Amino acid sequence: MAQNDYQDFISKIKRKTGIDLSLYKEAQMKRRLTSLYEKKGFASFEVFYEALSKEHQLLDEFLDRMTINVSEFYRNSKRWEVLEQKILPKILAENKRPKIWSAACSTGEEPYTIAMVMSKFMPLSELQIQATDLDTNVINRAKAGVYPERSLNEVPAEIRKKYFTQEGSFYKVDDKIKKTIVYKQHNLLAEPFGGPYDLIVCRNVLIYFTEEAKDELYKKFSAALRPGGIFFVGSTEQIFNPAAYGFDTEDTFFYRKQ
Ligand SMILES: C[S@@+](CC[C@H](N)C(=O)[O-])C[C@H]1O[C@@H](n2cnc3c(N)ncnc32)[C@H](O)[C@@H]1O
Repeated sequence: MAQNDYQDFISKIKRKTGIDLSLYKEAQMKRRLTSLYEKKGFASFEVFYEALSKEHQLLDEFLDRMTINVSEFYRNSKRWEVLEQKILPKILAENKRPKIWSAACSTGEEPYTIAMVMSKFMPLSELQIQATDLDTNVINRAKAGVYPERSLNEVPAEIRKKYFTQEGSFYKVDDKIKKTIVYKQHNLLAEPFGGPYDLIVCRNVLIYFTEEAKDELYKKFSAALRPGGIFFVGSTEQIFNPAAYGFDTEDTFFYRKQ
């Protein structure tokens, strides 16, 4: 009964929003959503769905709960050093105007970090980075570019000085950095990928997906990269059989398309 309740909810949400919850790890997603509807005073997924189909704000809260949006600048900063010192010089030797995609970019810390690192190699006026996320709320926050201090913990001092302005207890990203990013809403599990890209950064979202969904996505990411292009994943998201997707391991958490 409880199992059907969730399965029916999945079907209805898919019809309403195009979001396929069956491709997200079930135990974790169910737990997150159950705690949300219980907090709101509903007794089952069925009554929760009835309410959110009528109330836009509740649908927004559902979206907010299912998409885990935490992010920070220079997340796992050692990896960004590898990107700067080892990966980017090679990419730029092959293409001076690389095509870059930050997939599942959340509130913008990741694409802005890419731009800050790239600024060491090329004028910002020549840089364009695509950044996408499923959730339009986070995209709007990314466009605003205003962050609490804790998001900046890993930002190197000289970058903090150069590209952030403090306003009260918040930090604003410099307009020259903001202008390099083109934001767009995009569902990784349902929409085509563009390309060919020189660099795709997709971090800390694949962990939420089922093994089957991940398998499909690795194939799509691989197909969206040019030969020699790099796929940069999160620090818990090692690919165990990269060759199956046409990848060689370039460094820990970096894969090169063969
Ligand atoms: C934990 S954040 C990761 C942010 C950033 N990449 C980082 O590593 O700091 C995960 C993001 O994935 C997004 N997301 C979840 N499902 C998605 C999907 N099907 N397509 C695109 N983005 C998705 C969420 O909205 C959320 O902003």
